[in-house]
Amino acid sequence: MHQMAPSPAAFKSAGPLSGRVRVPGDKSISHRSLMLSALAVGTSTVEGLLEGEDVLATAAAMRAMGAQIERGADGRWTIQGVGVGGLLQPSQALDMGNSGTSTRLLMGLVASHPIVATFTGDASLSKRPMNRVIEPLSLMGAEFTSSPGGRLPLMLRGIAPAVPIEYRLPVASAQVKSAILLAGLNTPGITRVIEPVPTRDHSERMLRGFGAELTVGIDAGGARIISIRGEAELKPQHIVVPGDPSSAAFPVVAALLVPGSDVVIENVGLNPTRAGLFEVLRMMGGRIDYLDEREVGGEPVADLHVRGSALTGIEVPPEFAPSMIDEFPILFVAAALAKGRTVTRGLEELRVKESDRLALMASGLARLGAHVKESEDGLVIEGTDGTPLAANGPVEIAAELDHRIAMSFAVAGLAAANDVIVDDMAPVATSFPIFTELMTSLGATAS
Ligand code: S3P
Repeated sequence: MHQMAPSPAAFKSAGPLSGRVRVPGDKSISHRSLMLSALAVGTSTVEGLLEGEDVLATAAAMRAMGAQIERGADGRWTIQGVGVGGLLQPSQALDMGNSGTSTRLLMGLVASHPIVATFTGDASLSKRPMNRVIEPLSLMGAEFTSSPGGRLPLMLRGIAPAVPIEYRLPVASAQVKSAILLAGLNTPGITRVIEPVPTRDHSERMLRGFGAELTVGIDAGGARIISIRGEAELKPQHIVVPGDPSSAAFPVVAALLVPGSDVVIENVGLNPTRAGLFEVLRMMGGRIDYLDEREVGGEPVADLHVRGSALTGIEVPPEFAPSMIDEFPILFVAAALAKGRTVTRGLEELRVKESDRLALMASGLARLGAHVKESEDGLVIEGTDGTPLAANGPVEIAAELDHRIAMSFAVAGLAAANDVIVDDMAPVATSFPIFTELMTSLGATAS
């Protein structure tokens, strides 16, 4: 992955947003589609794959380990798998770019194969903690040589056969859960993950869909117990990837905040482990209707009809956090314009995402004139009740290689009195390459 030159853009208000749009495929499901297809025996196809840099980093890594992955002219992807246990030694370091999901899930896959892989990443990814996966994968027998603090670049020496473990997640993380389950695929016996707080369950759904023997129980304390039987044979699949709710979040909030807007976002995944933001926005008074609710690729999906709304601040129940963990930056923008106070807590994980999202959102919103108080694990925001931000002139925001910070402030610009200039929109290509184009097609102004 090459570093691109910074690409600044100014976003400004330009009247109501309107139209029908479709957001790209779900990032979490796209990564997993490539990884599981690459481990199946035979040819899988994927429709609606997110063609963002993060997912392309996963594709490149799976190719480097032996899978054949091609994009057809019709946009459909074809993957010839190597079979569980069949991953080959990559001849070069695996460049993970900005992608934490690629890194942590692939570490799980490599851990139970008899191969050595080096993982590298960009400046943002190289600051992110990997001990959360190094610890359980070491218990399974993999060996790691990492940079100080358990960071990238790191070298992983996988082992086969690996040792099955039972592991209770110390942090609510779908990436850690998935890394262990993926390592368990090529491990004899039963590998078990105990998840006290439920996180996105795409890995469980998809592993089952590919034919792995995976069960989910609940223990006496209410934790989910996920068990996978290893040395599985995965059967090739045809996968249809639904639209990414984490991308839909940006046009949804933009349409709520710009008075008079009327927008439909089609084909949005509404898996309950992902749809927390839309529920919270509805609790704040956001007019979001689910049209034509249906199933796509085993996931609940609907078209979202969103209209400009006067929002009211709320206390976001901390149990919502895992189902909207990537959506807090854009929720904070909505809260900054709502009537009254929004209180969020239990969000310490936001400090170790692509950036420290609590710090960047607090400082950026304050520079736009919002009233924000930052605590260790959340923000308290006193909203302006619809009075536009950036009242004293244009404001430039540094996105620090974080796609969701860049998109959140772009949306803030649409509800501001003056331009909001995002210093670098290039990272948006990791998850939502058509963001600016899509927002402009709804009537936003970006220059
Ligand atoms: C993801 C899990 C979440 C999320 C990330 C995607 C996944 O990370 O923030 O964008 O696909 O499993 P954590 O596991 O760190 O919470």
